[in-house]
Amino acid sequence: MIENVACVGAGYVGGPSCAVIASQCPDVNVTVCDMNENLINQWNGSSVPIHEPGLPNVVEKCRSQGNLTFTCDLCTPLQRADVIFVCVDTPPKQFGNDQHFAADTCNLERAFRNLAHVLAHAPCKHRVVVIKSTVPVGTGDRMEALLRASLDESVADSVDIVSNPEFLAEGTAVRDMQSPSRVVVGCNASSPAAAAVMRSLYERWVPADRIAVIDRRSSEMCKLISNAMLAQRITSTNCTAALCEKVGADVGQVMKAVGMDPRIGPYFLNASVGFGGSCFRKDVMSLAHINAQHHLQDVSEYWMSIVHMNDAFKRVFVQSKMIPAMFGSVRGKKIAIWGLAFKKDTGDVRDTPAASVVSDLLRERALVHVYDPQVSQHDFMRELTHQFGSAHEHEHKQLIFETDMYRCAAGAHALVVMTEWDVFKTEGGADFAKIHESMTKPAFIFDGRRITDVEHLRRVGFAAYQIGKS
Ligand code: UGA
Repeated sequence: MIENVACVGAGYVGGPSCAVIASQCPDVNVTVCDMNENLINQWNGSSVPIHEPGLPNVVEKCRSQGNLTFTCDLCTPLQRADVIFVCVDTPPKQFGNDQHFAADTCNLERAFRNLAHVLAHAPCKHRVVVIKSTVPVGTGDRMEALLRASLDESVADSVDIVSNPEFLAEGTAVRDMQSPSRVVVGCNASSPAAAAVMRSLYERWVPADRIAVIDRRSSEMCKLISNAMLAQRITSTNCTAALCEKVGADVGQVMKAVGMDPRIGPYFLNASVGFGGSCFRKDVMSLAHINAQHHLQDVSEYWMSIVHMNDAFKRVFVQSKMIPAMFGSVRGKKIAIWGLAFKKDTGDVRDTPAASVVSDLLRERALVHVYDPQVSQHDFMRELTHQFGSAHEHEHKQLIFETDMYRCAAGAHALVVMTEWDVFKTEGGADFAKIHESMTKPAFIFDGRRITDVEHLRRVGFAAYQIGKS
């Protein structure tokens, strides 16, 4: 019987996942721990620190139930817990050998060292430690060895480490967690009790046939492969879009027909400037790195080609679409960017394609005005500097943050749609006739997300370009 659940890490994974667990299991105490005091204060404050539809309601419900706590105490909740989720980040390594390529598991290791320290002084009972962080294959084995080396045998024997990868996507995290397509539990044959505990937790709201218990290494691997295949699918769609533009086809119609084959399916076939987010690039590169470590060089290069293609699409958008259309130069011209988040319904800008496009435009000496309904100036500037370095500092003077999408576009030579927010759409969203009137002529629009009606825009008077359409 599970009475107490703890979670290490109050970020994008730990926070929403635990809020949903608490809301689905009112009789279980869920405590989310993080050493970041500022983050914990935000979770305990009046608005949650992550923009995620439905999340404030779920957190509020748990608050009134009284079974969800956020704390900086990394000791008591872990000692008490029957199940401990580890949801710390595993970003690309930023230093030394395999920089940008390998996953940096330092935070995970630190979490396990702390856990060993905490459990050494706790009463002995069966505990399941659940790795939700995305990790290289074999990490569960390594963390098990770490715990065994740090704890008495009897305590170490009472701990089972399972892998339980996270498949929720930002913007739909609450829905994905409430109604997951699958829950994967990676567990070695020697730990049937751990599999039973995990089943008993998830079966409270997930149908039993959606819970797959597989071995731990396979579970770790399925997470990387899932993301790599999704990234590959988007890249294949974007490659199709590039050819569609040349041969007079429409990528939307092509992929609609392609996706009608049930072996392919209709999802994740939307062409874009490129995929972004904290996971796809990182996980594809981590997969490529693991292959290289195992001397599967060709396989490694195959996966890396997805990242290279994705980067190329972002550059091509500015250099081969925008600049040639705008008479060969954007120097001194106002360009309006709508959307900085890597996708709609999130304020997250990690690896957002908008950073690449903005950076290229600044380098070309454009005057760039940006608007996003959720992204803060601070977060976007940090991402811009993270991706492209402080060499851009002087160019940042040409970057203006707007709080109104119409003001952002007023007087601009071009409007660029970088995120598919509903307010930017033709239908029920933006008033493009009004926008056209306010812009410098000829008024260009570059739709990097395929959310506008190009025919309508052309009728209004725009010189309109859309990815994957001639
Ligand atoms: C992704 C996966 O979808 C989740 O299953 C996974 O749990 C998560 O990574 C993770 O590893 O944590 P996320 O990065 O939040 O989720 O967002 P996605 O919806 O997958 O979108 C990723 C990027 O691909 C976005 O920039 C999006 O705009 C782009 N995209 C997506 C396309 O360009 N075309 C599409 O058809 C779909």
